[in-house]
Order: sequence, then structure tokens, then C-alpha cells
Amino acid sequence: MSKTSWTKIDEILTGKKTGKTVNTRGWIYRTRSSGNIIFTVIRDSSGLLQATIKKGNLPNKEFDDAKKALIESSLEIKGVVKEDKRAPGGYELQVTTVNILNFAEPFPIVKDQSPEFLLDQRHLWLRSQKLGSILKIRSTVVGAIHNFFRGQGYYEFDAPILQPNQCEGGSTLFEVRYYDKKTYLAQTWQLYAEAAIFSLEKIYNMAPTFRAEKSKTSRHLSEFWMAEMEAAWMDLNEVTKVAEEEVQFILKEVLKRNKKELEVLGQDIKKLEKISKSKFPTITYTDALKILEEKENMNIKWGKDLRTIEEEKLMKHFETPVIITNYPLKIMAFYKPKDPKDPKTALCFDMIAPDGYGEIIGGSQRSLNVEEMTERLKASGENIDNYQWYFDLRRYGSVPHSGYGLGVERLVSWICGLDNIKDAIPFPRTVLRYRP
Ligand code: 4AD
Ligand code: MG
Repeated sequence: MSKTSWTKIDEILTGKKTGKTVNTRGWIYRTRSSGNIIFTVIRDSSGLLQATIKKGNLPNKEFDDAKKALIESSLEIKGVVKEDKRAPGGYELQVTTVNILNFAEPFPIVKDQSPEFLLDQRHLWLRSQKLGSILKIRSTVVGAIHNFFRGQGYYEFDAPILQPNQCEGGSTLFEVRYYDKKTYLAQTWQLYAEAAIFSLEKIYNMAPTFRAEKSKTSRHLSEFWMAEMEAAWMDLNEVTKVAEEEVQFILKEVLKRNKKELEVLGQDIKKLEKISKSKFPTITYTDALKILEEKENMNIKWGKDLRTIEEEKLMKHFETPVIITNYPLKIMAFYKPKDPKDPKTALCFDMIAPDGYGEIIGGSQRSLNVEEMTERLKASGENIDNYQWYFDLRRYGSVPHSGYGLGVERLVSWICGLDNIKDAIPFPRTVLRYRP
């Protein structure tokens, strides 16, 4: 049997195949027929191609099959590539052979359906041009994160997903029955990463992360992917630099590889290009309150966390992401240390994305003070016994260290300009949704 060589649609759309006979395969994206001619748009993972199927150019049985086939039917076709300015992408295939592999049933997704319906049909909606484009960008983002850290000598280090401790506050823990005991799903990789830096010094990871976020927002998932790093000998200043470089690196990779997808999503490529080459301003929480007061007439009491509305108003004054440091110590997690120069605040930072996408990164220098951490954990009702292993890291050759976590879906949402974070992950889990 001779082996067919298959041509991907994007190759046909380069023009290199014009005048040649090619075999291609994929799914019917849309189709209409009038009499003896069928105009079918075929989709594969690389693009869309118009195929013109004329009775007489192929066996009648094949013509009849093509006429019967509904959208999302899978097929193999053969034909001659012709340039045609009117066709999407500028080329069309004049078909001489059609082999329908699977005659699809009427596809449940048609135009103008509600977001909830589309989420129920997520397993099918993944084929849409929109989700396909997002998934490709997500793949670039994830690859870029690995390349960024590996390129700078970081080791990839894995932590358990089942963890007995909280790190970011008990209220968002997901409890899991663990034989006859209980444990939790990882809220972060951080505590275990802090153990590993004494062996590997510079490490990173990207893993599923779980938060029982009870409120419905366009920014919160119950299961998301966090890309985290932790490094020995690094202070707050140095770690914020790494965060800035990481985001710029990722943006540049997306701009290099995914212009087509950004266009499908209607993103402003020029704007993203500018951001990828700009310095990100660093301000303190206190500066942020000043900007809100002076420019937005908003009086936020010092000590209150910045809410979505405040972040949005603040970001009206910036075109790039902004790094905000020195949040009030009181509202910060137990491991964020006091800033000796401004003891009401912590040596911590968030990176806030422009255009209302909010916090994409959270990080800090790490406290080395067992007494202070003990007090803060006790104040939030934690059992200190569970943290003794973590405190050991301060007892045996402790060094200054810092780290941060980047929300992969938050970043993808911002880069893709999505209305809701749910579209940044293939099968979203939120307070109201855990299937399909
Ligand atoms: O700011 P967070 O809570 O920081 C930590 O967990 C640290 N332990 C990380 C570290 O220092 N290693 O979370 C980090 C980032 C946030 O900035 C946000 O982008 C994302 O994770 N994130 C969420 N993304 C989607 N849905 C949620 N429910 C999220 N919660 C946090
Ligand atoms: Mg945070």
C-alpha cells in the first residue's frame, strides 16, 4: 500500500503548493451547496481552507457523500490548489477525491449560544477558532516559562499536591479525605520549594493549584496553574526584576509565534509589542493609595487591601504592568517579612496587569524569623506543630531568599484579552462548575 503524504492547511496557505495536487484532512468548518457545486471550508489544527467540490470532478458517490456531510464531519480530500482572492486565506482546493471518515450528527453548537451552554459543550467548543487560538497561545506561554527559567540555570522541582498545611490562608483550602485522615490540595508550591533551595538554590515549577474561591468573579478559578520560582540569596528587589523579565520574555515569545492567533482574538499587537519592550514601573502600596487619592478622588484607608475596583482605577494611569511592593504587613500571609525600613509593611510585591486584568503575580522575600511567623500563624488559628518542618529551614543554615507565583490563566487572559478567565483553561473549574 502506498503511503499518502498529508499537507497541512497552513502550508497550502503559504502559496508553495499552488498548481499542485495535495492530500489534506480535517473537519468540515462550514459548508453550503447549490446544485452541482459544494463550497466547504475545511479546518485542521493549522488553519481554514476553502474546498470547491464540483460534480463531475470526482466520483458521484463521493460528491453525494460530501453533500450529505454536516459540519464537524471528518474527512480526507485530494485536489489541486488554486489561488483565489475571494477565498479565506487566498487559496482554494479544487477537489478530485473526498473520503468522509465520520458523518457527524447535527452539531449542538450553533451561533449565539449562551456562555453557560458553551461551557456545558466545552469538549466540542474546544474546536472553535477562539478556543483553538487561546490554547495555542497558552501552549506558547507554558513553553516560554520553562525556557525562561531553564535558560537561567533554574532547576525544575516538584512538590506534593496533597499537602497537610495551608500557606495562603485556611479559608480557600480544598479538603481531601486521605484514608482515615484529612489533607488539602496544594494552594501553592512555595513551602516545599523553600526546603529545596538549600539543595538546588534556584528552582521553578508549574503545576495545578487549588483554591476554594467562593465568590464568582471573572478572575478566579478553583483549579488553576501556577508558575512559581524560588531562589536562595535573592532579595525583594532582585526577585521583582526576575518577574519583570519573565513576563517580557513570555510576551516576546507569544508575539513571535502567535500573531495569527492574536489577530483572531482581536488583540492589539502593537500595544503588546510596546509593553514587551517597556520597563514596568515599581511603586509602593502607599504610592498607589496616593495616586488613587490624587487622580481618582478615592480615599482608601491605609491598611485595607486593594480591591478589583481600586486596581482598575489605579491601572488607568499605566500602560504596562505595574509592580506594587510593601503592602500592609497585617493583611499579608505569615511568611512575608516585615520591612525593617518600614515595619508596618512587608517585603512583598504583586504585579498588576493593565486593562483590568488585575494581579498576575504575587511574591515576596521570605521571613527568617520563626518567632514572628509562629505568632502570626497562631493568630490565624493554625496548629504550629504542622509548621515545625518549615521552621527547620530557618534553623539549619538559613539564607535570605525570595520567590513568587504567576497565575498562568491570569496571564493568558490578559495577553488574549479575554472577558473571563474560564476561557484561559481548557476545562474550567469554578465554584459553580466542575464538569465536563
Ligand atoms: O498571590 P498568590 O496567592 O501567591 C502565592 O500563592 C505565593 N505562595 C506564590 C509564591 O510566592 N510562590 O498567588 C499567585 C498568583 C496570583 O498572583 C494570581 O495570578 C494567581 O496566582 N491566582 C489565581 N489565578 C486564578 N484563580 C485563582 N483563584 C487564583 N489565585 C491566585
Ligand atoms: Mg496574591
